[in-house]
Amino acid sequence: MNKRYQAVIFDLDGVIVSTDHYHFLAWSKLAEQEGIEFNEQINHRLRGVSRMESLEIILEKAKKSYTQDEKRKLAERKNEVYRSLLGQLNENDMLPGVPETLSALRERGYQIAIGSSSKNTPVILERIGLSGYFDAVADGNGIVHSKPDPEVFLLAASQLGVPSAACLVVEDAEAGVIAAKRGGMAVAAIGEARSCKEANYSLETIADLLQYV
Ligand code: BG6
Ligand code: MG
Repeated sequence: MNKRYQAVIFDLDGVIVSTDHYHFLAWSKLAEQEGIEFNEQINHRLRGVSRMESLEIILEKAKKSYTQDEKRKLAERKNEVYRSLLGQLNENDMLPGVPETLSALRERGYQIAIGSSSKNTPVILERIGLSGYFDAVADGNGIVHSKPDPEVFLLAASQLGVPSAACLVVEDAEAGVIAAKRGGMAVAAIGEARSCKEANYSLETIADLLQYV
């Protein structure tokens, strides 16, 4: 088989599952409680970046300054709200076309992996019934630098034993597109990331991926 790619690495939130909306709801609640302005535009900047970095972006609009300990507690509060929202998550929250696309990739002989900044990746995969399904899972628990740093994608590629140039990343966040390109990988952009010029392919739905592999 003469294929351009050997593996497809998927971002999780907003690509496999609709948890990006839960992140937005949880941050909105925290911002409201703290009297900090928060909107979709600010939320756009949080996609793909770690919890603490997301908090720092939100606090740019805060009228007071917070100590490191207070920031840690705010991030914990957000995560508690987010985790309680994840309690409702099930297989039906996978985004349209995801199960079919994953099985088609498997049938075509591709390795598949997750590359996510989220420390909640294991619980999310469990809730949507995909625990143990992927050949590799690289997430926020195993990295120091979150997207746009390429660390999480490079970790996924090394777990798979596949060179960067043979990996195709699927991303919905600009930070993720940049991370994949910095890691020497091709990127298929979906959702908000479709406006990124750096992406190699633009997907209307995840099933469109099958045209490029
Ligand atoms: C990314 C999301 O997947 O995970 C970000 O796009 C989020 O919005 C990040 O901040 C970290 O998630 P968690 O679950 O560790 O708080
Ligand atoms: Mg995402």
